[in-house]
Amino acid sequence: MAGTRTFSIIKPDATKRNLTGAVTKMLEEAGLRVVASKRIHMSRDQAEGFYAVHKERPFFGELVDFMISGPVVVQVLEGENAMQRNRDIMGATNSADAAPGTIRKELAESIEANTVHGSDSDENAAIEIAYFFDEDEIVG
Ligand code: CMP
Repeated sequence: MAGTRTFSIIKPDATKRNLTGAVTKMLEEAGLRVVASKRIHMSRDQAEGFYAVHKERPFFGELVDFMISGPVVVQVLEGENAMQRNRDIMGATNSADAAPGTIRKELAESIEANTVHGSDSDENAAIEIAYFFDEDEIVG
């Protein structure tokens, strides 16, 4: 494997606006390789499980509703310092605070419809990758 791996979701606001390619292009230009990718429509159970860490947050219900409002593209990204590299190109969670040139600044609509999810640690990346992918679906 070249470098490390992280997990990414292209969210429903982006698939709805046909931005899967635009987001992927920005990830690739940032030096990340897409080594697994699938378009899925998450079930409520799947979304609640994925975001279980946010269960007590006031926005949890809205977050789950949004994430099941349309298809998403789940991806495994590989590269040098993949987790941090992905967070840098994603930009701040709230698109209003994101730096110019980042995915969320250029493409996101709001803190909820924020176009992409990315793992926040290598430990969580491994957990999130395993939540959606079998090892044999990841081809580096
Ligand atoms: P994500 O990286 O997918 O992780 C959790 C998500 O919760 C986050 O992106 C945001 O889209 C969403 N989120 C975080 N804070 C809020 C908030 N205050 N209101 C609504 N959604 C939020």
